[in-house]
Amino acid sequence: MTNSHPWWEGAVVYEIYARSFADANDDGVGDLEGIRRRLPYLADLGVDAVWITPFYPSPGFDHGYDVADYVDIDPRHGTLEDFDRLVADTHALGLRLVVDIVPNHTSSHHPWFQAALRGATDPYRDFYIWRDPAPDGGPPNNWVSHFGGPAWTWDPGSDQYYCHLFLPEQPDLNWSNPAVITAFDDIIRFWCERGVDGFRIDVAHGLAKDPWFRDNPQLAPVRAGMDPRRVFDSYEHRYDLDQNPNVDVYRHWHEVVRPYGAMLLGEVGPADPVRHARYHDYGRAIHRNFYLTISWMDWDPMHLRDRIRGIHLAAPDSNAWVLDSHDTSHATTRFGGGEVGAHRALCVKTLMMALGGMQVLYQGEELGIDNGSVAPEDLADPVSTRNPGAVSGRDGARTVMPWDDGPTNGFNSGGRPWLPSAHRPREETVAGQQGDPASFLERYRTLLALRRSRPELWKTPVEWLDTEDSVMIALRRGATVVAANLDEHDAGFDLPEGEWTVLYSSRFGAPPPISDGRIDVPAETTLILGAAATADAPHHN
Ligand code: NOJ
Repeated sequence: MTNSHPWWEGAVVYEIYARSFADANDDGVGDLEGIRRRLPYLADLGVDAVWITPFYPSPGFDHGYDVADYVDIDPRHGTLEDFDRLVADTHALGLRLVVDIVPNHTSSHHPWFQAALRGATDPYRDFYIWRDPAPDGGPPNNWVSHFGGPAWTWDPGSDQYYCHLFLPEQPDLNWSNPAVITAFDDIIRFWCERGVDGFRIDVAHGLAKDPWFRDNPQLAPVRAGMDPRRVFDSYEHRYDLDQNPNVDVYRHWHEVVRPYGAMLLGEVGPADPVRHARYHDYGRAIHRNFYLTISWMDWDPMHLRDRIRGIHLAAPDSNAWVLDSHDTSHATTRFGGGEVGAHRALCVKTLMMALGGMQVLYQGEELGIDNGSVAPEDLADPVSTRNPGAVSGRDGARTVMPWDDGPTNGFNSGGRPWLPSAHRPREETVAGQQGDPASFLERYRTLLALRRSRPELWKTPVEWLDTEDSVMIALRRGATVVAANLDEHDAGFDLPEGEWTVLYSSRFGAPPPISDGRIDVPAETTLILGAAATADAPHHN
């Protein structure tokens, strides 16, 4: 591989939520062997790479994002031998494998933290962030955890507090300690040597903290019982997140992975596109970065249009477009639910496919499914279980992948899933949609095939086209035009000079006719058109 054409350029990455994708040994928790057996499905879907959420040994307080050993496999997910088989099969199918790396925090069960608890003189003490109590004995500053409560927990053994931006069981590492940097270099090399093609970096914007640990400015009053995410948003995260030294870490990692040809894919939180883009640092730091803001948005066409335009402007090639993930409601649900929500999601996804950078699909997104339904007593996400009351957590997007209409929708051969959920009808499953041209699965497959066969769709320089409608985005790339109408009304659109033909519509059924160089783009629909002379010509990368 050469750096002039890295594998991730224009790649489509499929996110697998390890616990819920496929359970080969029927113990109720998804495993690497289950994933391996389903790889042909992903190859047929037309993705380029697979990203698997954490499968490392973990007590599971945050379902794997609390890692107790970075260089092994949790027995519930399999063994290192299973991992090697998975790598081999992934590559044999022409796919790439991306693993999750969690550098902001470890599990409190990690031997480093257990050693740190022994006291101030232990060599691992400085792997974590310790501060004396405030004069009143309370936490050292006003930082709050993403998952509720203060971002500090008192350690009676030393009468100091340790920092955790997530659960108390997820103590934050101290990235100003060079020994932490060295420890992660070794972890990264370990997985590169085992053949991985990239790393998805968890909370990439979290690592460095303000050296003076100043209070964050408070933006809005906080009341008892408020949703922890609203509490979190009531502060400007000026001192706990998005500190400049983060980018130094990734410039260094860029060099660590370079000899292996591996990619860094950052989970980057800042909503401001310019702050977000600096994690790419003109190609010297993280190769591709999620812009999470869009994956949290409800159906709000004007804001969606602005966010899409904004991040594309700031990060035209380094953004990783993500609409759906294990941390949000499914896009179908956020966008109105059912057929309406699923069509809106495909409308936005089709537009994204025509923008530079990487595309990320979350398991089940290609089926157009809504959130799974989980009984209150089965909820598992700490966002819900630790904040009883009106808090809706992330479980709805984490229910088992619906493969067929078997007892557990084909997740396994009947063992109770770790997150039990309502059975899905056949039409929401892979088996029910496969081969039906009017299904979401086949519409996504066709879209991915078009993107692959027509790289100018994401590669050729963009020319933005004028539109009459306020929530229409239209662009041209060479012999391809994309018109996305996010409005609830059909919208007329004047095509550029020449003969055009519709190659793809995010709506099922016959595409609208073109007359006198003008087309009516149906409401909440994206069309991809090709110049007639080239419409049928094969395009190669
Ligand atoms: C982001 C992950 O995607 C999420 O699932 C996790 O809870 C937090 N980071 C903390 O690791």
